[in-house]
Amino acid sequence: MKRIVIAIDGPAASGKSTTARLVAGRLGYLHIDTGAMYRAITLKALQRKLDINDRGLIEDLARGSEIHLEKLNGALRVFLDGTDVTGAIRSREVTASVSTVSSYAGVREVMVREQRKLAGQGGVVLEGRDIGTVVLPHADLKVFMVANVRERARRRRKDLMATGIQANEEELVSEIEARDRKDSTRATSPLRKADDAVELDTSDLTIDQQVEFIVTRARTIIG
Ligand code: DC
Repeated sequence: MKRIVIAIDGPAASGKSTTARLVAGRLGYLHIDTGAMYRAITLKALQRKLDINDRGLIEDLARGSEIHLEKLNGALRVFLDGTDVTGAIRSREVTASVSTVSSYAGVREVMVREQRKLAGQGGVVLEGRDIGTVVLPHADLKVFMVANVRERARRRRKDLMATGIQANEEELVSEIEARDRKDSTRATSPLRKADDAVELDTSDLTIDQQVEFIVTRARTIIG
């Protein structure tokens, strides 16, 4: 059976990760969270107390790092230079700096090369900001997920609270808007809907409905 490539892009907290994970599970595909890769480099820069505004320094850091995604006991784990950083990359400090780190062309070059390698065999669901436009412009199915910012802040707050972190919804709205602005206006591979992507507004959808929407389309393509 044909094993297709699915690209899911969209703004911050639009539900991409959960949806991509469940779609991959339903189809028996590999889920690749590309945002986690940018987060891992950001974490490394912060741990080393590097100036994240120093483009050259951060690009060198990315070139000298090994990021590895692995499915363990059904969950995706992220390894940075051999250390499991799955939890650490979700901190608010990393979230606040990742848009700057991911705006550097040298960083993106390293990540995109790795992402294309991972997608090479097909049977994958990649999620991020530039998958359908830059990383895999020939993906078999492209989905652009959106949701209103209030709903996205609410979901992000719920996720944070599940990990024991308290957050104010108004602050999250500002953070999400700031990140979207930065991700959409950067010079290299800005967040943009590919012309041939299907838009999925999840503001009023349940997770099951989002997953069903994508799986149905995927199955039509698989035939
Ligand atoms: O999906 P996320 O929130 O974990 O992504 C973190 C950041 O990484 C996001 O603000 C922008 C960047 N990113 C990117 O530039 N390109 C991608 N393909 C994925 C994420």
